[in-house]
Amino acid sequence: MLAIYRSCELPAAAGELLLGCGLQQGESSISGKIDVSVKMERPLFIPIILGTARQGRQSENVARFVFEQTKKRVDVETELIYVRELPMRLDDAGEQMKDAAFSATIERCDGIILVVPEYNHGYPGLLKHALDMNLKEYIHKAVGICGVSAGPFGGARVIEGLLPVMRELGLVTIFEDVNFGKVQEIFDEEGRLLDQSYVPRVDKFLNELIWMARVLRHGRKTIAGVPEE
Ligand SMILES: Cc1cc2nc3c(=O)[nH]c(=O)nc-3n(C[C@H](O)[C@H](O)[C@H](O)COP(=O)(O)O)c2cc1C
Repeated sequence: MLAIYRSCELPAAAGELLLGCGLQQGESSISGKIDVSVKMERPLFIPIILGTARQGRQSENVARFVFEQTKKRVDVETELIYVRELPMRLDDAGEQMKDAAFSATIERCDGIILVVPEYNHGYPGLLKHALDMNLKEYIHKAVGICGVSAGPFGGARVIEGLLPVMRELGLVTIFEDVNFGKVQEIFDEEGRLLDQSYVPRVDKFLNELIWMARVLRHGRKTIAGVPEE
Protein backbone atom coordinates (compact mmCIF):
# COMPACT_ATOMS: atom_id res chain seq x y z
CA MET A 1 0.00 0.00 0.00
CA LEU A 2 1.36 3.42 -0.96
CA ALA A 3 0.63 6.22 1.45
CA ILE A 4 0.67 9.65 -0.21
CA TYR A 5 1.45 12.76 1.82
CA ARG A 6 0.59 15.84 -0.20
CA SER A 7 2.11 19.12 1.01
CA CYS A 8 1.74 18.09 4.58
CA GLU A 9 4.10 17.32 7.38
CA LEU A 10 5.26 13.77 7.49
CA PRO A 11 6.02 11.87 10.67
CA ALA A 12 9.75 12.29 11.29
CA ALA A 13 10.45 8.59 10.65
CA ALA A 14 8.69 8.71 7.27
CA GLY A 15 10.58 11.86 6.34
CA GLU A 16 13.88 10.19 7.18
CA LEU A 17 12.88 7.18 5.08
CA LEU A 18 12.20 9.32 2.01
CA LEU A 19 15.36 11.35 2.51
CA GLY A 20 17.17 8.04 2.87
CA CYS A 21 15.87 7.18 -0.61
CA GLY A 22 17.72 10.21 -1.95
CA LEU A 23 14.82 12.66 -1.89
CA GLN A 24 15.26 16.27 -0.84
CA GLN A 25 12.70 18.30 1.04
CA GLY A 26 9.70 19.13 -1.15
CA GLU A 27 10.88 16.89 -3.99
CA SER A 28 8.53 14.49 -5.81
CA SER A 29 9.22 10.80 -5.49
CA ILE A 30 7.97 9.82 -8.97
CA SER A 31 8.30 13.04 -10.89
CA GLY A 32 5.23 13.92 -12.94
CA LYS A 33 3.16 11.02 -11.69
CA ILE A 34 2.66 11.52 -7.99
CA ASP A 35 3.10 14.85 -6.24
CA VAL A 36 4.63 13.92 -2.95
CA SER A 37 5.89 16.86 -0.90
CA VAL A 38 8.05 16.31 2.11
CA LYS A 39 8.04 19.21 4.56
CA MET A 40 10.34 18.48 7.45
CA GLU A 41 9.76 20.09 10.85
CA ARG A 42 12.74 22.03 12.09
CA PRO A 43 14.11 20.45 15.27
CA LEU A 44 12.84 21.72 18.58
CA PHE A 45 15.17 24.31 20.08
CA ILE A 46 15.64 23.84 23.83
CA PRO A 47 18.52 25.85 25.32
CA ILE A 48 19.84 25.19 28.82
CA ILE A 49 20.46 28.07 31.21
CA LEU A 50 22.96 27.62 34.03
CA GLY A 51 21.55 29.91 36.68
CA THR A 52 24.55 30.82 38.82
CA ALA A 53 27.67 32.93 38.48
CA ARG A 54 29.43 31.49 41.54
CA GLN A 55 33.14 30.74 41.18
CA GLY A 56 33.64 26.97 41.48
CA ARG A 57 29.96 26.21 41.01
CA GLN A 58 29.16 22.49 41.12
CA SER A 59 26.00 22.98 39.13
CA GLU A 60 28.12 23.54 36.01
CA ASN A 61 28.78 19.76 36.06
CA VAL A 62 25.02 19.22 36.08
CA ALA A 63 24.46 21.71 33.26
CA ARG A 64 27.15 20.06 31.12
CA PHE A 65 25.75 16.58 31.78
CA VAL A 66 22.18 17.64 30.92
CA PHE A 67 23.53 19.46 27.84
CA GLU A 68 25.26 16.28 26.61
CA GLN A 69 22.10 14.21 27.18
CA THR A 70 19.97 16.78 25.34
CA LYS A 71 22.40 16.88 22.40
CA LYS A 72 21.81 13.14 21.94
CA ARG A 73 18.17 13.75 20.99
CA VAL A 74 17.99 13.76 17.20
CA ASP A 75 14.93 15.99 17.12
CA VAL A 76 16.32 18.66 19.44
CA GLU A 77 18.79 21.50 18.99
CA THR A 78 20.27 22.96 22.15
CA GLU A 79 22.88 25.34 23.52
CA LEU A 80 24.29 26.05 26.94
CA ILE A 81 23.79 29.58 28.20
CA TYR A 82 25.80 30.84 31.17
CA VAL A 83 23.86 33.43 33.07
CA ARG A 84 27.09 35.17 34.06
CA GLU A 85 27.98 35.74 30.41
CA LEU A 86 24.75 37.55 29.61
CA PRO A 87 25.25 41.30 29.31
CA MET A 88 23.36 42.68 32.29
CA ARG A 89 23.35 45.96 34.10
CA LEU A 90 23.02 46.27 37.83
CA ASP A 91 21.41 49.69 37.78
CA ASP A 92 18.20 48.63 36.04
CA ALA A 93 15.75 45.73 35.78
CA GLY A 94 13.33 44.04 33.43
CA GLU A 95 12.79 44.59 29.73
CA GLN A 96 14.52 47.96 29.91
CA MET A 97 17.82 46.12 29.71
CA LYS A 98 16.81 43.58 27.10
CA ASP A 99 19.77 41.98 25.34
CA ALA A 100 19.08 41.47 21.63
CA ALA A 101 20.90 38.15 21.30
CA PHE A 102 19.37 36.63 24.45
CA SER A 103 15.91 37.82 23.41
CA ALA A 104 16.35 36.28 19.96
CA THR A 105 17.39 32.98 21.54
CA ILE A 106 14.34 32.90 23.79
CA GLU A 107 12.08 34.01 20.93
CA ARG A 108 13.34 31.11 18.80
CA CYS A 109 13.17 28.48 21.52
CA ASP A 110 10.41 25.94 22.03
CA GLY A 111 11.39 25.18 25.60
CA ILE A 112 14.00 25.96 28.24
CA ILE A 113 15.90 23.87 30.76
CA LEU A 114 16.95 25.72 33.90
CA VAL A 115 19.80 24.27 35.96
CA VAL A 116 19.53 26.05 39.29
CA PRO A 117 21.41 25.67 42.57
CA GLU A 118 19.62 26.25 45.84
CA TYR A 119 20.94 29.28 47.70
CA ASN A 120 19.39 29.77 51.15
CA HIS A 121 16.30 27.87 50.01
CA GLY A 122 15.84 30.17 47.02
CA TYR A 123 17.10 30.81 43.49
CA PRO A 124 20.17 32.90 42.66
CA GLY A 125 19.17 36.54 42.26
CA LEU A 126 21.21 36.84 39.07
CA LEU A 127 19.07 34.19 37.36
CA LYS A 128 15.92 36.14 38.15
CA HIS A 129 17.58 39.37 36.98
CA ALA A 130 18.40 37.64 33.67
CA LEU A 131 15.01 35.99 33.19
CA ASP A 132 13.24 39.31 33.79
CA MET A 133 14.91 40.79 30.69
CA ASN A 134 12.36 39.03 28.47
CA LEU A 135 8.62 38.60 28.70
CA LYS A 136 6.53 37.91 25.61
CA GLU A 137 9.34 35.69 24.28
CA TYR A 138 8.50 33.05 26.92
CA ILE A 139 4.78 32.80 26.34
CA HIS A 140 3.47 29.28 25.63
CA LYS A 141 6.95 27.70 25.77
CA ALA A 142 7.81 24.69 27.92
CA VAL A 143 10.19 24.80 30.87
CA GLY A 144 11.83 22.07 32.93
CA ILE A 145 13.95 22.63 36.03
CA CYS A 146 16.94 20.71 37.37
CA GLY A 147 17.56 21.60 41.00
CA VAL A 148 21.05 21.32 42.49
CA SER A 149 22.08 21.34 46.14
CA ALA A 150 24.77 20.29 48.55
CA GLY A 151 22.02 18.94 50.80
CA PRO A 152 20.01 15.79 50.12
CA PHE A 153 16.86 17.34 48.62
CA GLY A 154 18.34 18.21 45.25
CA GLY A 155 17.08 21.74 45.12
CA ALA A 156 13.44 20.73 45.72
CA ARG A 157 12.88 24.04 47.50
CA VAL A 158 14.41 26.16 44.77
CA ILE A 159 12.21 24.41 42.19
CA GLU A 160 9.08 25.10 44.23
CA GLY A 161 10.18 28.71 44.59
CA LEU A 162 10.63 29.09 40.85
CA LEU A 163 7.23 27.72 39.82
CA PRO A 164 5.22 30.92 40.40
CA VAL A 165 7.92 32.89 38.54
CA MET A 166 7.67 30.54 35.56
CA ARG A 167 3.91 30.95 35.51
CA GLU A 168 4.11 34.73 35.57
CA LEU A 169 6.57 34.68 32.66
CA GLY A 170 4.07 32.68 30.58
CA LEU A 171 6.16 29.52 30.58
CA VAL A 172 4.46 26.14 30.94
CA THR A 173 6.04 23.90 33.58
CA ILE A 174 6.25 20.14 33.29
CA PHE A 175 5.65 17.69 36.12
CA GLU A 176 9.08 16.08 35.87
CA ASP A 177 12.11 17.68 37.58
CA VAL A 178 15.55 16.29 38.23
CA ASN A 179 16.90 16.73 41.76
CA PHE A 180 20.69 16.65 41.96
CA GLY A 181 21.17 16.31 45.72
CA LYS A 182 24.61 16.02 47.36
CA VAL A 183 25.99 17.22 44.05
CA GLN A 184 29.58 17.14 45.36
CA GLU A 185 29.29 13.32 45.44
CA ILE A 186 27.72 12.79 42.00
CA PHE A 187 30.63 13.96 39.81
CA ASP A 188 34.37 13.32 39.97
CA GLU A 189 37.09 15.99 39.87
CA GLU A 190 36.90 16.20 36.08
CA GLY A 191 33.14 16.62 36.14
CA ARG A 192 32.39 13.07 35.00
CA LEU A 193 29.15 11.55 36.26
CA LEU A 194 29.69 8.94 39.00
CA ASP A 195 26.06 8.04 39.69
CA GLN A 196 24.58 6.49 36.54
CA SER A 197 21.06 6.55 37.97
CA TYR A 198 20.89 10.13 36.70
CA VAL A 199 20.93 8.97 33.07
CA PRO A 200 17.38 7.48 33.12
CA ARG A 201 16.18 10.32 35.35
CA VAL A 202 17.29 12.92 32.83
CA ASP A 203 15.89 10.80 30.00
CA LYS A 204 12.46 10.75 31.63
CA PHE A 205 12.66 14.50 32.23
CA LEU A 206 13.65 15.15 28.61
CA ASN A 207 10.88 12.90 27.29
CA GLU A 208 8.29 14.94 29.12
CA LEU A 209 9.84 18.31 28.23
CA ILE A 210 10.12 17.41 24.55
CA TRP A 211 6.50 16.22 24.50
CA MET A 212 5.33 19.48 26.07
CA ALA A 213 7.53 21.59 23.78
CA ARG A 214 6.12 19.81 20.73
CA VAL A 215 2.52 20.20 21.88
CA LEU A 216 3.03 23.89 22.60
CA ARG A 217 4.73 24.51 19.24
CA HIS A 218 1.73 22.89 17.56
CA GLY A 219 -0.59 25.07 19.65
CA ARG A 220 1.30 28.29 18.87
CA LYS A 221 1.17 27.50 15.17
CA THR A 222 -2.40 26.33 14.85
CA ILE A 223 -4.56 27.72 17.65
CA ALA A 224 -5.44 31.39 17.81
CA GLY A 225 -4.46 33.15 21.03
CA VAL A 226 -6.91 34.67 23.47
CA PRO A 227 -7.74 38.19 22.20
CA GLU A 228 -6.27 40.95 24.33
CA GLU A 229 -8.77 43.22 26.10
C1 LIG B 1 24.83 31.49 49.11
C2 LIG B 1 24.67 30.00 49.19
C3 LIG B 1 23.56 29.48 49.82
C4 LIG B 1 23.38 28.10 49.87
N1 LIG B 1 22.22 27.60 50.41
C5 LIG B 1 21.98 26.27 50.36
C6 LIG B 1 20.74 25.73 50.82
O1 LIG B 1 19.86 26.43 51.21
N2 LIG B 1 20.57 24.39 50.74
C7 LIG B 1 21.54 23.54 50.24
O2 LIG B 1 21.32 22.34 50.19
N3 LIG B 1 22.72 24.03 49.80
C8 LIG B 1 22.95 25.36 49.84
N4 LIG B 1 24.13 25.89 49.34
C9 LIG B 1 25.11 24.98 48.80
C10 LIG B 1 24.89 24.78 47.31
O3 LIG B 1 23.69 24.07 47.11
C11 LIG B 1 26.07 24.06 46.76
O4 LIG B 1 27.12 25.03 46.61
C12 LIG B 1 25.87 23.26 45.52
O5 LIG B 1 27.13 22.87 45.06
C13 LIG B 1 25.14 23.97 44.37
O6 LIG B 1 25.58 25.29 44.18
P1 LIG B 1 26.82 25.71 43.23
O7 LIG B 1 26.42 25.42 41.82
O8 LIG B 1 27.03 27.15 43.49
O9 LIG B 1 28.00 24.88 43.66
C14 LIG B 1 24.35 27.25 49.29
C15 LIG B 1 25.46 27.80 48.67
C16 LIG B 1 25.62 29.17 48.60
C17 LIG B 1 26.81 29.73 47.87
